[in-house]
Amino acid sequence: MFRDEPARQTLAQFDYWCLARCDDGWRLECAGTGKVQRALSNLLGHDLDSQLSLPDGSLRAAKFDGDRLHSALIVAKNRPVEVDRTHLAGLIGVELDAAGRASVLAGRAAHGESAGPIICSCEGVGRYTLLNALQDGARTIGDLGDRARAGTNCGSCQPELRKIISEFNESVAQPAKEEAV
Ligand code: FES
Repeated sequence: MFRDEPARQTLAQFDYWCLARCDDGWRLECAGTGKVQRALSNLLGHDLDSQLSLPDGSLRAAKFDGDRLHSALIVAKNRPVEVDRTHLAGLIGVELDAAGRASVLAGRAAHGESAGPIICSCEGVGRYTLLNALQDGARTIGDLGDRARAGTNCGSCQPELRKIISEFNESVAQPAKEEAV
């Protein structure tokens, strides 16, 4: 998550990247091999305020402008990044106390609900957020876009959204069928 738009020449060093605007900054999903280490340090610069390197090779780093979060980087090696993107995106530019700063490196709110595994990487929308929206009455991809912004940027997640809608519809239809037997 970045307050300022990351430089395109840095993004070009990743094998995959996807950049989307969030309320007060930019959300970047990227992946790659080889020169990724250098590209990652180019993204944040060297004057980090908080950094946590974990034994599994993952890295969490943050940069602050006074008490306001300027940027945060969560890196995982050989596995998906486990982070509540919605929570982190909401912290960009926000004045944080010590607990708020800690939640940046934790990648989730201290007592918050997880958004679940990310389905729409452009908008950082997780599976649980989508299921909640479906429980609340969303029925179409358009509804998920209106309620959670899922699928509203590049559209590449729409097949997965369709699948989740269909699985949800099947799961709610199942008890009715069982009752009828
Ligand atoms: S992944 Fe791009 S709109 Fe969902």
